[in-house]
Amino acid sequence: MVLKPPIIERIHKLEEKYGVIGQDMNSYLDGLLYSNVTNYWDYINVDTLLSLQHPKTDYPDELIFIMYHQVTELYFRLALHEMEQIANNGRDVVMETGEDKGWKKKLDADYFATRVNRINNYFEVLTKSFDIMGSGMEKEQFLRFRMALLPASGFQSAQYRMIEICATDFIRLVDKDERNIFEEKNSSIEKMFEQIYWKKGATELTSGQKTLTLKHFEKKYSEKLIALADDYKSKNLWAKYKSLTETEQKNQDLINALKQLDINVNVNWPLVHYRSAAKYLEKGKNEDIAATGGTNWQKYLPPRFQKRMFYPELWSEEEKNNWGKAWVESIVKK
Ligand code: HEM
Repeated sequence: MVLKPPIIERIHKLEEKYGVIGQDMNSYLDGLLYSNVTNYWDYINVDTLLSLQHPKTDYPDELIFIMYHQVTELYFRLALHEMEQIANNGRDVVMETGEDKGWKKKLDADYFATRVNRINNYFEVLTKSFDIMGSGMEKEQFLRFRMALLPASGFQSAQYRMIEICATDFIRLVDKDERNIFEEKNSSIEKMFEQIYWKKGATELTSGQKTLTLKHFEKKYSEKLIALADDYKSKNLWAKYKSLTETEQKNQDLINALKQLDINVNVNWPLVHYRSAAKYLEKGKNEDIAATGGTNWQKYLPPRFQKRMFYPELWSEEEKNNWGKAWVESIVKK
């Protein structure tokens, strides 16, 4: 049999590839000969994926609640994947051979913008699909199966907090009323972590004590989150933006992408989430059902009150003053 030129070319390339790393190509060709072809179900791990749903009650809608949270965590994982790429300037993989040469030395502004827009896509899917929670479960079932989950809450999503940490300077996550204590001094992450916005939210309505939800979360994740914040001090998205040249910082696509991210993470997603919470937990005019995480959720969740913002330097004074406002008003009127 005469081998066709494209095959011979590939054999040469393979010989070169394995030669560089001191390996015998023939052994690898044997491996190819003996191995099975890949199936979709193995590659995607479908069976494992579908074995990860364990409702705690027999109410059928609990499955929707579990799976939508899982879907969200997968999108968060994708967002963090892109953030890691940006933080390290992108991976230098030789297209021809697939060889990984490590992280690139310099971040390209267009690469930065396209990656931020990927994250925007993920958040937009989540925002648009939130009706799966909002109107996709029977309220009567929800109000019962949620009691079997106490004191768990989406509040304990570590990936959500990781996204915030990777997105901006840590000071932006400090409670807005406490921020000026730190801004002048070069405070440590540990000190600022004590005043992070979510701790204030997770305060028991009656006693003013940290909620059990928060205590559990801190025990499991505080150390990890502080280490991540330390690591991302000089490579969070804002730090990376500031490290670009003045001309690159004027890249309008990049500015728009970052502003959109700010809106997606700090206004749009929190608002659809809040709207769902209100739908299930609002009883009547002045009466609400307690949240599983025990927060004063009506005061805590609306973005207008939290005023979380990753990139204040990119917004006008008016935009900052009206942060999340139109949204809150439209929801409150409903
Ligand atoms: C009907 C569905 C939902 C309801 C009623 C609901 C309710 C709440 C409430 C009341 C809080 C405040 C903390 C507490 O006291 O528990 C909260 C926080 C939170 N939930 Fe949900 N939630 C729902 C769906 C989801 C989903 C699908 C996710 C996706 C992971 C999620 C993620 C979060 C996050 C990240 C927080 C913290 C937000 C912050 O600190 O600003 N929630 N949720």
